[in-house]
Amino acid sequence: MAAAATTARANANLALVKYWGKRDPALNLPATGSISLTLDGLAVEASIAFGAGEADRFEIDGEPARGDEAARLGRFLDVVRETTGRRERAFVSTRATVPRGIGLASSAAAFAALALAGSRAAGMELDPTALSVLARRGSGSAARSVFGGFVEWRRGERADGRDSFAEPLAAPDHWDVRVVVAVTSTAPKAVSSRDGMARASTSPFYPAWIAGVEADLAEARAAIRARDLAALGLVAERSALAMHAIGLAARPPLLYWVGATVDCLRRVWELRTGGTPAFATIDAGPQVKVLCAPADAGLVADALRTVPGVARVLTCVPGRGAEVVA
Ligand code: PMV
Repeated sequence: MAAAATTARANANLALVKYWGKRDPALNLPATGSISLTLDGLAVEASIAFGAGEADRFEIDGEPARGDEAARLGRFLDVVRETTGRRERAFVSTRATVPRGIGLASSAAAFAALALAGSRAAGMELDPTALSVLARRGSGSAARSVFGGFVEWRRGERADGRDSFAEPLAAPDHWDVRVVVAVTSTAPKAVSSRDGMARASTSPFYPAWIAGVEADLAEARAAIRARDLAALGLVAERSALAMHAIGLAARPPLLYWVGATVDCLRRVWELRTGGTPAFATIDAGPQVKVLCAPADAGLVADALRTVPGVARVLTCVPGRGAEVVA
């Protein structure tokens, strides 16, 4: 008989100092540390019930998962079984609270929620560090979504990855900032972050990137502590642009941007020239995310909405870490 399902919710996170490159692709061990802000509202709820039949079954947003997605969920479930000692098959379902088809569905939120739901469904209460290590195995950035607010994921040195986990730097209420997201394309991602990171090592800029991240991390930590928006914004923008520059020089080249991505970036720079402290960051896709003060979020959203090609604009506040909801 199937056990009752355990359900957990986790929010997406926005990297301010990016994770871009792995020292071990199988274990998702990063080449560098990274720092993020967990965002309220961009959440995924995951339910897991063990003992639910002869084979694992997966559902995403109410539809059976297929192909690569099902395989990835299956591999993660194997890691949950390995971590917890449970052996039965399971029924797994995930549901994103973000509107579908706007390119913001987040594997970080999904795997953080799955790690929490899976370990609890297996009867295990992992401490936050062990939970972060488990979430990392699903998707590197999921290690950070275990926690709310500002979070640092340590690179770690060990080959087994036990020292590569995230830790909170500051709670969500430490600093009230806004992230305004401009959705510039709803097309599915052409190159996954996994493939993009693998390609990064072919870029002559990659060694320079690795060499610069420690300084960015130190600056970001200090800026978060001091609640210095300009300092944090500049380091976040620089980190994102350097990450994308690696791709431009990779072989073959990799460019996640569309035209509207560039136009949004220019609009943010115009806002800054006009005296509004707003700072852009871009992940493995064409959307532009803008860090700003709460009082400026309306102005920033209006400015981005008028950029041709922007399909939608949403504004996020700092969010909480992963939690069990049922
Ligand atoms: O965790 P992944 O494999 O989805 O990679 C995340 C990569 C970026 O979002 C571009 C950067 C980051 O640190 O989140």
